[in-house]
Formats: sequence, structure tokens, C-alpha cells
Amino acid sequence: MIQKMSIEELAVGMRIIGRGLGWQIQPNTFGEDLDITSQEQIHNIRELGYTEAFVYLPDPPEQCAPAQPTQPFPPPGYQGPTVALAEELPKAQALHAKCTVYAQKFMSDSAKGRFNYDEAEPFVEGLLASTQRNPGALLSLSRLHQTDAYTYKHCVNVAILSISLARSLHHDTMKVFTTGYAGLFHDLGKALVPKQILNAPRKLSTTEFKVMQEHPTLGYRELMRVPQVQEDVLRGTLEHHEKFDGTGYPGNLAGAAISHIGTVVGMADVYDALTSQRPYKSSIPQNTALGIMFQMRNKAWAESMLAEFIQMLGVYPVGSVVELEDGTLAVVTDVSENSTAPKVMVVQSQLGKTIREMRDLTRQGEARIVTAYTAEEKNVDVLSVLASVTE
Ligand SMILES: [Fe+2]
Repeated sequence: MIQKMSIEELAVGMRIIGRGLGWQIQPNTFGEDLDITSQEQIHNIRELGYTEAFVYLPDPPEQCAPAQPTQPFPPPGYQGPTVALAEELPKAQALHAKCTVYAQKFMSDSAKGRFNYDEAEPFVEGLLASTQRNPGALLSLSRLHQTDAYTYKHCVNVAILSISLARSLHHDTMKVFTTGYAGLFHDLGKALVPKQILNAPRKLSTTEFKVMQEHPTLGYRELMRVPQVQEDVLRGTLEHHEKFDGTGYPGNLAGAAISHIGTVVGMADVYDALTSQRPYKSSIPQNTALGIMFQMRNKAWAESMLAEFIQMLGVYPVGSVVELEDGTLAVVTDVSENSTAPKVMVVQSQLGKTIREMRDLTRQGEARIVTAYTAEEKNVDVLSVLASVTE
């Protein structure tokens, strides 16, 4: 069996199992396969700053032990898909488009003083239902075609990411629902920021930046006028730019003073911005974005909350274009069982030939992921690959 041990408990003769867990998930855990043959190795691991490792312990011969779980780590919090990705994708696509049009409407309504909170209900309900049927469909769509209507798609994407995280954290349905509202409306205040500042194609002046920083408060005030608005939606909107170390805005709140919902929406906001393609920046691979966010741990958000976010998305989220150690190129299709060894569709052989082959990287002897690319870098039509996944 495989058991987690502190570095102090390691001894010569033991075998460390790396499990392929990257620093993003287990920063204190030594992540390489290693047979310990000397005390010096243990000393070196400790010097590198690791405090624990997974060690293989042979089962006692006569032990009649219950079957070991095949997955030694808790599975990601959300339940696996109930329908295939290919089945959910067209529905998710239509829903994403409708929600984007709706986001455009509520931003424009808000600017005209005609904001109607109740109109959001069917859209949030739709997002929640799709996420329950197949969590990967909306999540992968939210990472594609980011070049147009960014502001409105951003509202929808932050709602999708927030709902997905709330589900992964096992919040009850009502709370997940409210989290969706908070994600959707988090930037409502931007409708009230002067257009010349909001759309300025240049670096903002200090004064302009101060005006821009008022958008959480402006959105909060707008939502305060809605009698039925939930507390979580108010705080998610007001606190999505607060930072764990107290350097955020508008309240300079720190640590536990920032609401859970503020952190959830804030992480979703940053992740969507990092992975989006904009006129002035190309997109970056999703795992690179998670790496950047990891560098912001305990500054922008508590490390424990970020770990939940990474666990939910998988180190290589659905739709990621990855290279396997055998030289093949693949698209990640399902992370619900193992966040570092997902199911993938291989799209290119070692020789560069286009193929379609499903592989489950949790299987014994399977190749590991060595690196990730953006879809543009490798010219992969991720959507059509995902649409062909029927298992
Ligand atoms: Fe914002």
C-alpha cells in the first residue's frame, strides 16, 4: 500500500512513489519516484524543503486486508459526468451563447437604471443543470473563442467557474445557485464606470484607475436596491478584488475578514482573465495560469482555497492540449477521477499523424503528461475533439 509519511519517518530501503503530483497540488510533498539507498538522499529531500512523501509499503503476507482503494487520494469533490461530453456540448454551447446575450442585456439595463435581478434565474438554473450533467462541457467552452464580447463572456465564465467550485466544495444546491448569481453579477458595477475609462485602449492614469476601482462598490450599491438579493451575492460582488494579504480593494480586507464567496469569485475572475485571449495578449495554457495563481498563494488568497480550485479544475483542465511522455499530443477530456492523470483523447501520433484514440492515464504503465500548450500553438480544434468524446 501507499502511505503518506513525514520526511522524518523515511528510512533507507523505502521506495518513494511520486504519483506525478505537481507542486501546484502538494507543494510540501516530494514528487519523484525514488528508491532510498542512503541517509544522504533523505537529508537532501529535507534540505529541498519537503516535509512529506508517499511511500510504498509492501502488504504483510498473511494479512487479509480489505481491498485497497484504487485511487489513494480523495477524488475531486464533484460527481462525475452523468451524460457524455459530446451529448452535453451542444446544449452547453447554446446556453453559453444565450447567457452571453443576457449578460450584455443586464449590463446595458444597469447603465440605464433598469436592472432586473429576477431575469437571471433561468440562466443560472441552466448553468447549474449543465454543470450537473457534465462538469467539463461548460468549463471547456468557457476557455474557447475568447476574442469577441469579452466583457459579457467574462461574466458568464466567472459564473461557470464559481458554480463549479461551489459544487466541488459540496455546498448545498441553494448555495451553489447563489454562488452562480454572485459570479454573474460580480462586475455589474462596470456598467456604471464611464465608457472612456472602461474601454480605454491604454494604461489608465492614477485618477482613472481609482474610478475603475469603484466598480465593486458601485455593483454592490446597485444590488442593494434589490430586496430579494442574497447576502452572498452582495459580498461576492463587493469583495471579489480583496486580497488575502490586505492589499486589495475597496476595503483592504485581509485574511478571514474576506468572505468565502468573495474569494471564490475572485479566483474565478483572475483565472478567466489569465486564460483569455485579448486583442493585446495571447492566451496561455490553463496549467500555466494555475501556476501563476499558485505564485499568488497567501497573497491574493489562502493556499487552502487555491488548492480546492486547482483540485476542481484538475492540474490540466478539460480541453487542455497536452503532450504525453511518449511524444503523442492529446486533449484532456475528463478530470473527475484523477486531477493529474486525466482521461485524454490522443489527437496526434509520435510521427505527427492525426488520430483519435481515447486513453485513461490512471491505468498502470500509462504515459504521464510532460507539458501543455495552447490550442492555437498546436493548431488543435479542441471543440471538435471534445465533441467526439462519447464515453
Ligand atoms: Fe471586477
